[in-house]
Amino acid sequence: MSEAAGPMKIPRGLAGVSVTDTRISKSASDGSLIYRGYPISELAAKASFEETAYLVVNGRLPTRVELAAFSKGLVERSKVDRRVFRIMKGLGRKAHPIDVIRTAASALGSLDGEKTMAGKEASIEAKMSVLAANSRRLPLGMRPRTPKKGLGFSDNLLQMLTDRKASDFDRWVFERALIFYMEHDMNASSFTVRVVASTLADPYAAASAGLASLKGPLHGGANEAAMEMLLEVRDPAKAREFVDETFRQGRKLMGFGHRVYKDFDPRARLCKEYLKEMTERRRESAWLYELCDAVEREMWERKRIPPNLDYYAAPIFYLLGIEVPLYTPIFAASRVFGWMAHYNEQVEENKLIRPDSTYVGPSGLRYTSVGERKA
Ligand code: ACO
Repeated sequence: MSEAAGPMKIPRGLAGVSVTDTRISKSASDGSLIYRGYPISELAAKASFEETAYLVVNGRLPTRVELAAFSKGLVERSKVDRRVFRIMKGLGRKAHPIDVIRTAASALGSLDGEKTMAGKEASIEAKMSVLAANSRRLPLGMRPRTPKKGLGFSDNLLQMLTDRKASDFDRWVFERALIFYMEHDMNASSFTVRVVASTLADPYAAASAGLASLKGPLHGGANEAAMEMLLEVRDPAKAREFVDETFRQGRKLMGFGHRVYKDFDPRARLCKEYLKEMTERRRESAWLYELCDAVEREMWERKRIPPNLDYYAAPIFYLLGIEVPLYTPIFAASRVFGWMAHYNEQVEENKLIRPDSTYVGPSGLRYTSVGERKA
């Protein structure tokens, strides 16, 4: 493109634009999703959280010895400096948990003792779940929860979040949800992480920026917004009325729609199956599955827009007894592994991400002194 022709115009929101080559993962409009070449359904059926995290970060599945060392490292590196906990506590009871972990991740950048790049990445990966689990407790003045040596990553996180041991099936479902949240090619927060990485800022800075991007209801915040919406409707018989009213007010239904998936989100589809089984095992919760299904059918009838992962992960977390403001921090506890994979890939083949823009504002204006200006 010549200078005279000006910058190349690309679609709003970078929709459909490939901004980089990646070997980490790929989602496609046909409802497929692979992590490092493995279909998500295969990983959901067979892999543990730690195996999947190793795969996403290192590019291949671990051997038994590598897996044991990686799992041990996650627990060993999870110890958070007490000064970080004090900062989290100091934010006060009104602080939203996602703001609390974003502040904590930023504080780690100064207070973590890691010297090497690999150490910093491993540290933020291991600590994000501890920050997430304590992001509500500490500001409320409660004692911190820390991981136990004998438990895996997912079990530890669930136990820290709920203070109790869940059934085998519930623990299995929670681990699947974490696997689904781990990675998703060029989503908004991973792109944010790559922009920060491209300036050669450290992993703490990149993770803090990822957390900022994750907060919004169009991205990570959608799981909380979806659950709040479901709790507002409550009654499956009111699904139609609710969807009508939402559209009448020109609002979006949270937990629906996706930039890539237009027919179905494979993660949502699997979570829907798990939710069905969870509600069958808890008879009193049948309303929740019926409600999700009823709203989904209304949405499909009207707009042909399918639910995304957040829509079905949210009621799963709800049935597990997790408080709603912790849903986005859970997303972060898992997505941080994807973020670090993107951080590394960006730094290894770095080119500063610095796009152009088309200026459409005025030019040639004359400066007037403050006394001469009119409102
Ligand atoms: N409710 C109602 N209408 C919707 C929804 C929705 N949830 N999602 C998309 N639409 C409509 C849009 O209004 C638009 O209609 P129009 O063409 O008549 O203007 C059309 O579908 C296309 O939607 P876009 O917003 O252009 O799609 P885009 O790819 O830009 O956005 C997004 C995707 C942001 C996820 C959108 O679907 C949305 O806001 N969903 C709700 C928030 C949400 O659930 N986010 C979670 C994403 S997944 C994740 O982070 C794990």
